[in-house]
Amino acid sequence: MASDILFEPLKFRNLVVKNRILRSSISGRFDNYDGSGTQTRINWEEKFARGGAGAIISSFVAVSVAGRHVPNYATIHRDEQIPFWRAVGEKVHEYDCKYILQLNHAGRQMDFKGVDNLEMPTLSSTGTTEPFSGFLCRAMTAAEIQSVIGQLAEAARRVREAGLDGIELHGANGYLITQFLSSGINNRKDEYGGSVANRARFLLEIIRAIRKEVGTDFHLQVKLNGIDYNNAVFFWKKKGNTIEDSIQICKLLEAEGVDAIHVSSGSSFPHPRNPRGGLPLDVIKRVYPIIDSGKKTFPNYVMARYSLLRPIIRLLWTRDQGEAIEGNNLQAAKAIKQNVSVPVLCTGGFQTAQVIRDAIESGMCDAVAIARGLIANNNLPELFAQGKPTDKPCTHCNRCLYHVLEDPLGCYDLSRYANNEKMLEAVMSVYQSGMPTN
Ligand SMILES: Cc1cc2nc3c(=O)[nH]c(=O)nc-3n(C[C@H](O)[C@H](O)[C@H](O)COP(=O)(O)O)c2cc1C
Ligand code: SF4
Repeated sequence: MASDILFEPLKFRNLVVKNRILRSSISGRFDNYDGSGTQTRINWEEKFARGGAGAIISSFVAVSVAGRHVPNYATIHRDEQIPFWRAVGEKVHEYDCKYILQLNHAGRQMDFKGVDNLEMPTLSSTGTTEPFSGFLCRAMTAAEIQSVIGQLAEAARRVREAGLDGIELHGANGYLITQFLSSGINNRKDEYGGSVANRARFLLEIIRAIRKEVGTDFHLQVKLNGIDYNNAVFFWKKKGNTIEDSIQICKLLEAEGVDAIHVSSGSSFPHPRNPRGGLPLDVIKRVYPIIDSGKKTFPNYVMARYSLLRPIIRLLWTRDQGEAIEGNNLQAAKAIKQNVSVPVLCTGGFQTAQVIRDAIESGMCDAVAIARGLIANNNLPELFAQGKPTDKPCTHCNRCLYHVLEDPLGCYDLSRYANNEKMLEAVMSVYQSGMPTN
């Protein structure tokens, strides 16, 4: 029988992954307020390793308290956190699954601050407030830029010391690195703003500093937007990076020694195109965080709260959602792949074996990174290997995404379960080690 591309090893320069299905970043607020990790996160990651993912990309891991987007996610800003991350890696390795840690700094894009960063300045490339929550921020000074680069490099050293398999820099979806890369956001007049090369300078300096700490033989990939669609909601804004801008950036990254590019889209998170799908306003109304934390959180809450106003938010959100959900970043990934020689990963709606196979075989990407499809069916790779279709696919309703602000992360689409009790049983299973996959 001909071999299946889905189960052919994915060879990066410094890392081999057993198949072409990576778990994309997803995690709930499973950890302690001070950024120390818990057994719950280990249990969460174990579900995907057991289900057959070739590699897991951690969720957003902040490199400083100021760079956190929400409390209760494990961070990596202190050496004392190394043993926790080592334990996560060891658990995942039991299943021959690799663990890539996603390093990040939120910059101006936060869900809400905690007591320990309430008084810290919110830093960005720009002094312009972020359009959703409206956190006040200021443009970083040269010294602050160097300080954050140092924090990222130190965190990278900890990743290697923890015995993990690689690093992903989160340059997508509106966090600090996007705030520099995006022509829709970065309005600096110095050497970090203006041309593509200038906007990429911050990221390239981060990569250089990381390489000094971890060497050139450690896997380092970058997640970035193929296209920003910065004006998808607020049509009067600048559109941000085009695919041509991103191709230029990817060439610079490759020349700097990056081992892979992971293609996403959307200059904010969430964004109408990412994760592409539903806008569950009933969930948003209940979980919307601390409504006076940003200048715009109160009006957002009012729009979600009162059903007469909901059509406005829906119209703004859905007017530019674009093409089909499954593989919605594939055209951008293909354009990037045609211009670089390192492997290209693509995220966005994947959950059908044949769609993924076709994407890889037709040269659009080398592998896919799946988030919601794997929340719904942790064992998707196993099902693919058995040639079985998923009987309860993810509906891309996005209830998992918004519940996560208050509730344990898991699938909350009742239509996928026999009843509410069964749904909650699956959600709560993350608190018990060794529970079977969903
Ligand atoms: C609940 C949830 C949390 C997420 N957290 C992150 C994150 O921490 N870092 C990141 O880069 N992407 C994050 N994402 C985006 C996913 O990694 C993925 O790129 C996106 O959801 C599209 O893939 P999908 O259609 O397979 O879900 C998150 C998505 C969801 C649904
Ligand atoms: S709640 Fe479940 S069905 Fe809905 S997007 Fe999340 S994983 Fe998919």
